[in-house]
Amino acid sequence: MTVSHSLEVDGATVAYGDRVVLDGLDLIVPPGRISIIVGANACGKSTLLRAMARLLAPTSGSVLLDGAPIRAMPTKKVATVLGLLPQTPIAPEGIVVADLVGRGRYPHQGLFSRWTAADDAAVAEALEATGSLELAERPVDELSGGQRQRVWISMALAQQTDVLLLDEPTTFLDVSHQVDVLDLVTDLNRARGTTVVIVLHDLNLAARYADHLFAVKEGRIFASGTPREVVTPETVEAVFGMASRVIDDPVTGTPLVVPIGRHHSL
Ligand SMILES: Nc1ncnc2c1ncn2[C@@H]1O[C@H](COP(=O)(O)OP(=O)(O)OP(=O)(O)O)[C@@H](O)[C@H]1O
Ligand SMILES: [Mg+2]
Repeated sequence: MTVSHSLEVDGATVAYGDRVVLDGLDLIVPPGRISIIVGANACGKSTLLRAMARLLAPTSGSVLLDGAPIRAMPTKKVATVLGLLPQTPIAPEGIVVADLVGRGRYPHQGLFSRWTAADDAAVAEALEATGSLELAERPVDELSGGQRQRVWISMALAQQTDVLLLDEPTTFLDVSHQVDVLDLVTDLNRARGTTVVIVLHDLNLAARYADHLFAVKEGRIFASGTPREVVTPETVEAVFGMASRVIDDPVTGTPLVVPIGRHHSL
């Protein structure tokens, strides 16, 4: 079981030049749970995740890891605790899958220490977990979008961090692989106590897999709580500007959003 690290965003304002994207945002990540962030395009979800991973510095407020400002921590220390899968990661040209996934092991290696059997095992285990083992020797450039996405998830897994931040990990995946990835993340959470934060566009999958949901609107947390608390027609309307009905998912009993659209009425 992993140690539960605490991760908190405390009044963070993040801007690109003079465009303020996060506006004094507060958020406490529930340790050892799966949190899912939802919100409309361009509302600041990826910016939030990047700030949480210390890739962006807030102009005011802060991100606290175990109660201390993350901006003051050494990069390697942050990387051993916290792994991020960005929304559009970029692979070095020509790299093969096993080498890319192996890069997830860098934070675990000392200044002079070599690649070890434990690193090999972590890479193989991460590839196996996403069903990508047979891709190990393939160049990343030659993979399909879905295969590539699974390889990136493997890289994040190989890092074996206690906190995992995933920005739209199901992009490019067919529906069965989407469910596979979310099941896998759930397994990891249940088996190791990994704290997981996922940005997800599919509200119904979010409601199904999240212990805790955060709905972001215009750079602030608009609603936060269990899926039952957050996924209501009122919140869906406010956050996505979309009329819907919310019924019970027949499989899980979690909220299921059914859009109305312009050609139908409530
Ligand atoms: N590097 C950047 N430089 C300037 N503006 C940026 C940069 N990255 C993002 N933005 C802007 O910040 C706002 C929020 O972007 P962000 O990527 O956080 O949104 P998002 O909620 O993740 O959207 P999506 O659902 O489309 O991924 C957008 O208006 C975007 O254009
Ligand atoms: Mg995004």
